[in-house]
Amino acid sequence: MTKPVTVPAIAAAKVRNGDAPLVMLTAYDAPGARMVDEAGADLILVGDSLAMVVLGYDDTLQVTVDDMAHHTAAVARAKPRALIVGDLPWMSYHVSVEETVRNAAQLVRAGAACVKLEGGAERIPMIEALISAQIPVMGHLGLTPQSVNAFGGFRVQAKSTEAALRLVAEAKALQHAGVFAIVIEGVPDEVAALVTESLDIPTIGIGAGASCDGQVLVFHDVLGIEDRFVPKFVRRYADVKSVAVAALKAYADDVRSGAFPDHSESYHLDEETSTELALYGRSTD
Ligand code: KIV
Repeated sequence: MTKPVTVPAIAAAKVRNGDAPLVMLTAYDAPGARMVDEAGADLILVGDSLAMVVLGYDDTLQVTVDDMAHHTAAVARAKPRALIVGDLPWMSYHVSVEETVRNAAQLVRAGAACVKLEGGAERIPMIEALISAQIPVMGHLGLTPQSVNAFGGFRVQAKSTEAALRLVAEAKALQHAGVFAIVIEGVPDEVAALVTESLDIPTIGIGAGASCDGQVLVFHDVLGIEDRFVPKFVRRYADVKSVAVAALKAYADDVRSGAFPDHSESYHLDEETSTELALYGRSTD
């Protein structure tokens, strides 16, 4: 068996140094984690996208630390080789340093090797406290979905020179605070390239072009399970929803026609008991 992926190994991965781009995928349960791990991903993100793709909410603001811990534990039970990243949900790292550390510890106890949180310089006290509690931290900049209301929607960020330079400065500040990697979401590819060049730690892009040190996509988007809204940056590698609906419909048809279950799909008595029971049934007619 290959060795588990570690935080230091991820922190050292830079494409400009000849490393292969990092592969991160989300997963929210044990079967999903097994699939992602067998596919050879380096990191499994138990993302707060859980809220939208699994729990049916319209944004990520609805999930709690308990929800995230519940799903992190399910992913951890798959014992993946990939590094498990627990996503800190909205309001779990905003109120105080103490609450942040306690909430992150809940995800670590559930099986995460590290946590991810959204935001720039304003998060540095929390990041430093987590790192001093031996909890490695992944940053997340750009179109941070927990800021959907502040942004006025899911809008591409850092489109002006000023905003792009601000993003570079935020990324450098996070690196200085000790994060081991940064997710860059929903920014022009030129800006993501500039951020990636400016850092010694890896960037992992989503909707941020090809220059990052890795890519992340949501499990349900890659597999075509979520089909209500497909963002521009998603490439669908399967149409699992259509396959699943066709299979479920075939099952429904078989139940209604009496074709399911058949003899081989049922349990049977031995011949003697079966005859005895048939005789008993007749005698009670
Ligand atoms: O929650 C999530 O899935 C994420 C990714 C989009 C990076 O944060």
